[in-house]
Amino acid sequence: HQQEAFVHALRRVELHVHIEGAMTPELLFKIAKRNGFEMEHDLFDWTTHPDGSETAMYKEYTDLNQFLNVYTKATEVLQTRQDFSDLAHEYMCNAHSHGVMHAEIFVDVQTYVDRGLQADDVVHGLEQGFRKGQQEFGISYLMLGCALRHLSADQCVAGMEILRPYHEKGLIHGMGLCSMEKGQPPSKFLPAFQRAREIGFERFTAHAGEDGPAAYVSEALDVLGVTRIDHGINGIKDEEVFERLSRQGTMVTLCPLSNIALNVIDHLGELPIRKMLDNDLKFSINSDDPALFNSWITDNFIAIHKEHALSKADWIKISHDSIHGSWAAQERKEEMQ
Ligand code: ADE
Ligand code: ZN
Repeated sequence: HQQEAFVHALRRVELHVHIEGAMTPELLFKIAKRNGFEMEHDLFDWTTHPDGSETAMYKEYTDLNQFLNVYTKATEVLQTRQDFSDLAHEYMCNAHSHGVMHAEIFVDVQTYVDRGLQADDVVHGLEQGFRKGQQEFGISYLMLGCALRHLSADQCVAGMEILRPYHEKGLIHGMGLCSMEKGQPPSKFLPAFQRAREIGFERFTAHAGEDGPAAYVSEALDVLGVTRIDHGINGIKDEEVFERLSRQGTMVTLCPLSNIALNVIDHLGELPIRKMLDNDLKFSINSDDPALFNSWITDNFIAIHKEHALSKADWIKISHDSIHGSWAAQERKEEMQ
């Protein structure tokens, strides 16, 4: 129907996507094969087609922590600069087919360094793949580092030192707080955020209120000083935190189908989209881990559209807020507008 065609045709900005979560089964198999890894059959459900060919889809997840185990397992095939370049380039091709003009992409550099890879291979490999996609499709991109909260507070500080040279070279633009949330309050990672500020980072975000409480959203704002909240859904469901996010103009990066896939919500109707629009709580709609959830940014847009029956004016506001809540340079924002 007409309105849905309009939503399909929108140009998008993606402010919340993890590069590891964008690795399709096909790319994983290709990289596994060239690196001499066994195929991780147990991560996938297989469909046999009439012609005898088989396709794989990542299996369903039970919750965030179980998902993170699969996500980490999938990354084990990544070894060389070429692998990271292919991964970034594959995302850019898929992003292009979903109308993405600008993407801000989390990269878990420390995971690879802890496994013995060279940070240069990870970051320069990704940069090469993203740059190629930018040249081909005109998609702008910013890489965001993250403190990984399955690690200790001290390890996260060391993680910031890994990022230092790449921030200085302008390759890693901002900083987030990712991975398991329950029992890992944002304040525990203040030393990492302080170190990131010393290094010169100025753009901060945090996953908060995904499967953790509303109080973690407040803590990320008060203690870590972030200006963006990833997911934030338990905060949005809390009257006081909602009011604050709305008043401060904090960008909240929603990932609706991720929340369904990880059983963080039971139903998309739980996301108070109408109330957010009416109270000018600024949000964007994103994929989080599109290949691992088998749902890309367009799927998220369409799912929200169907559930909440949004108007053209609503979508224009969401697009406008997403562009202006991005960390793209001012000239780029104007171009995208
Ligand atoms: N890393 C990748 N996906 C994530 C998610 N949904 N929450 C926290 N950390 C993540
Ligand atoms: Zn995320």
